Amino acid sequence: MFWRSLEILVSLSLSSVVLALNNGVGVTPAMGYNPYNAFLCTTTEAQYHAAAQSLVSLGLSALGYHYFNLDCGWQSTARDSAGKITWDPKILPSGVPALGTFVHNLGLKFGVYSDLGIFACDFVGGTAHYVGSLGHETSDAATFASWGADLAKIDNCYAVNSTDFVDFNPPISIEAHYITMRDAFAATGRPILFSACEWGVQDPARWPGSSVANSWRISNDIGPPASWDNLFRIINQVVPITQFAGPGGFNDLDMLEVGNSGLTAAEQQTHFAFWAAAKSPLIISTDLTNPSAQTLSILKNTRIIALNQDALGKSISFKRRYTNDHDVWSGPLADGSTVAVVINWENASRSLTFNLADIGFSSATATDLITGTSLGKLTTSYTTTVAAHGSIVLKLAAGVAVASPTFTYYAATSGTLAGGAATRAVNSSVSVVGFVGNGGTLTLSGVDGGTAGGTKLLAFDYINGDLTFTNTACSNCRNTFVSVNGGAAVQVQMPISAQSWDILLSGYLVSLPGFKAGKTNTITLSNPSAFAPDFYRVGVAV
Ligand SMILES: *[C@@H]1O[C@H](CO)[C@@H](O)[C@H](O)[C@H]1NC(C)=O
Ligand SMILES: *[C@@H]1O[C@H](CO)[C@@H](O)[C@H](O)[C@H]1NC(C)=O
Ligand SMILES: *[C@@H]1O[C@H](CO)[C@@H](O)[C@H](O)[C@H]1NC(C)=O
Repeated sequence: MFWRSLEILVSLSLSSVVLALNNGVGVTPAMGYNPYNAFLCTTTEAQYHAAAQSLVSLGLSALGYHYFNLDCGWQSTARDSAGKITWDPKILPSGVPALGTFVHNLGLKFGVYSDLGIFACDFVGGTAHYVGSLGHETSDAATFASWGADLAKIDNCYAVNSTDFVDFNPPISIEAHYITMRDAFAATGRPILFSACEWGVQDPARWPGSSVANSWRISNDIGPPASWDNLFRIINQVVPITQFAGPGGFNDLDMLEVGNSGLTAAEQQTHFAFWAAAKSPLIISTDLTNPSAQTLSILKNTRIIALNQDALGKSISFKRRYTNDHDVWSGPLADGSTVAVVINWENASRSLTFNLADIGFSSATATDLITGTSLGKLTTSYTTTVAAHGSIVLKLAAGVAVASPTFTYYAATSGTLAGGAATRAVNSSVSVVGFVGNGGTLTLSGVDGGTAGGTKLLAFDYINGDLTFTNTACSNCRNTFVSVNGGAAVQVQMPISAQSWDILLSGYLVSLPGFKAGKTNTITLSNPSAFAPDFYRVGVAV
């Protein structure tokens, strides 16, 4: 472990690497397998064995998918006579230590699973429950270490009490549970990659220095069943927390649905590339008995895997949304290049133009990371055909920076409020206008359209804490309808700015036509059927 860490430090040369959770493992996102999305909590010993063997025989472990993990259902409903956690002999007749040996003998790393609740997650209900680790952290960590665990995924069911199965707003500190477990793992002396699975309910990305775990789930489950709506919900949810991903501690966007029904090939490709570039753990979770060539080609794309395992460990971040059209995300890589991920939101294959200015470049040399094709030097933009919900994934080098626009800002609180819109003090220095929508409107007047008017670039600073764990019409986002000078209102879809109502998202960009020359323009914000975010200010590019 020491040598592996040293090697990574050396490869990053003299840059100062601060590891989030410095436990010798999880310096890059975990890659591996977990049966849950395919087999839920009923995975049998034969299925575990077959999947572990497939991970090797299909050539996946050789590409970095090393962690072979248990999920729910392996446990017994009672502890042994010594109070130790133990397995269900019907599910695992040979026992967990034997499975660990089997996995290690294949050259894989072994991941265990438990839960920081009174019971563990189950579909049982009633009185029979798998045992949980809450209150047994030291004992269970020692047991897992003695079984040869290299990773531990720790879930969050029954964390509050014995009847509260899944609580998305628990009245207790979940963070304290995970700190206790982290320290219990540290006390074993065995490096165990700590995969926290509290579903993002208490914003674990913002726990102290992100140093509680090597990765933390940011959202409710991705499935099963897999769906594009689930991906949309999770992509919006990661918008405000991408900056917290770094070596030793990563946002976990949940296990992969690649290979499972419910997503088209293009959607699976987008899912895989986005998860990789966001530095989510890449945990395969499909039946590997007879995977399709398409599934394997997505999972085995070494250029996309390299994005995920890039030594810099930085996530892509949200750059721009063209509502109902496409998203632009980008982030830095260790070699000084940039990765861009452009998602086609349209439900059809179409020609899509990616503007390099959206990631701050006027030109750059590009490689298509899905196909490996070198695209040469791109100037201003890149246009190509993209499948419905497919994506463009580019590695960009030798980028030439474009000058960033400057904005004249109009404070929301200086606008005209009508129909219930109201000012709210966030703190002593920031006030916003809320209750825009459902009849409430905010109108900014005296807006400068410059000498020519026409189409202008706007920058919104807003607060949207409308967090959701289920799929809605706008999951983890809110719509604003923006009208310039009383013209047709344009839908602008704004992701959450945080999980609370006191953190701004600054610089959400949208281009809108209809400005007149001079300082007599108006901008009206509304939403006929729902609430928009709370607005701090709107900038108009000069
Ligand atoms: C369990 O916790 C939930 C959520 O706080 C609460 O509504 C419920 O009353 C609690 N049940 C018991 C038995 O304490
Ligand atoms: C795609 O189709 C869904 C389901 O019909 C619809 O809700 C959504 O608005 C469509 N998206 C776009 C961008 O047209
Ligand atoms: C007020 O809130 C804003 C938005 O989150 C934040 O940037 C600022 O630092 C806060 N100021 C104070 C004085 O707390």
